[in-house]
Amino acid sequence: MAKVTILNHPLIDHKMTIIRDKNTNTKSFRENVNEIGGLITYEITRDLPTKEVEVETPITKTITRQLAKDVIIVPILRAGLGMVDGIQMIIPTAKVGHVGMYRDEETLEPHEYYAKFPNEIVDGTVLVVDPMLATGGSASAAITAVKKRGAKDIRYVGLVGCPEGVERLNADHPDVDIYLAAMDEKLNDVGYIVPGLGDCGDRLFGTK
Ligand code: PRP
Ligand code: URA
Repeated sequence: MAKVTILNHPLIDHKMTIIRDKNTNTKSFRENVNEIGGLITYEITRDLPTKEVEVETPITKTITRQLAKDVIIVPILRAGLGMVDGIQMIIPTAKVGHVGMYRDEETLEPHEYYAKFPNEIVDGTVLVVDPMLATGGSASAAITAVKKRGAKDIRYVGLVGCPEGVERLNADHPDVDIYLAAMDEKLNDVGYIVPGLGDCGDRLFGTK
C-alpha cells in the first residue's frame, strides 16, 4: 500500500487559499501553482539519496554531498506544466518528460495523446505531477506510461486530491507514494473536485 502524505504546511495552505479563490487572476494563479509545486518538492525530497563528492572551495579541498540519482519531472499535460518551473527552481538539474492526457468529458476516461521521456527515467526518481487528482484515471494512466518505459522509483505529486482519486491510484499503483497539498471532500457528478479550484488547465492557461 502506498503512503499518502498531505503536506499541511502554513505557506502551502496560504497559497492554496489564493488558487481556490475564483477571483484570482491567471497570472497570480499560475505563480502560486508553481510556488506550491516548489514548496511540496522541497518537503518531499528529504529522503533522496546523496553521494560524496570532492570540491575545491576557495580555501581548500573538501568532501561534500550531491544528489546520487537523476530526478525526472513528468507533468501530465496540460495542467501539470503549471508546476514544472516551480519544481525546477528547487531542482535545476531535473530533466523533464511529458505525457499528454485528456479526460473524455462524458466518460471521464483518460486518453493519452503524447509521450516523450528522457532515458534517465529508468534509473532516476520520477515525479509524476498534476495539480488535480480527481477520478485518478489520468494519473494512473500516466504512471502506467512511465512504468512501460522502465521507470521504477515513482512519486505522484499533486495539489488537490479527493478520496476517489487516492483510492484508484492506490489500487492501480500501490508502489507509488502520493503527495498532495490538500485532500478535498469528494467528486461531483461531472467529475470535478469539491470544493476544489475548478478547471486547473483552463485557469492556468486562460482558456474558456
Ligand atoms: C484535468 C487535470 C488532470 C485530470 C484529473 O485534466 O489536469 O489531468 O483532469 O482528472 P482525473 O483524475 O479524473 O483523470 P484535463 O483532462 O481537464 O485536461 P487539461 O489538463 O488539458 O485541461
Ligand atoms: N480536473 C480539474 O481541472 N479540476 C477538477 O476539479 C477535476 C479535474
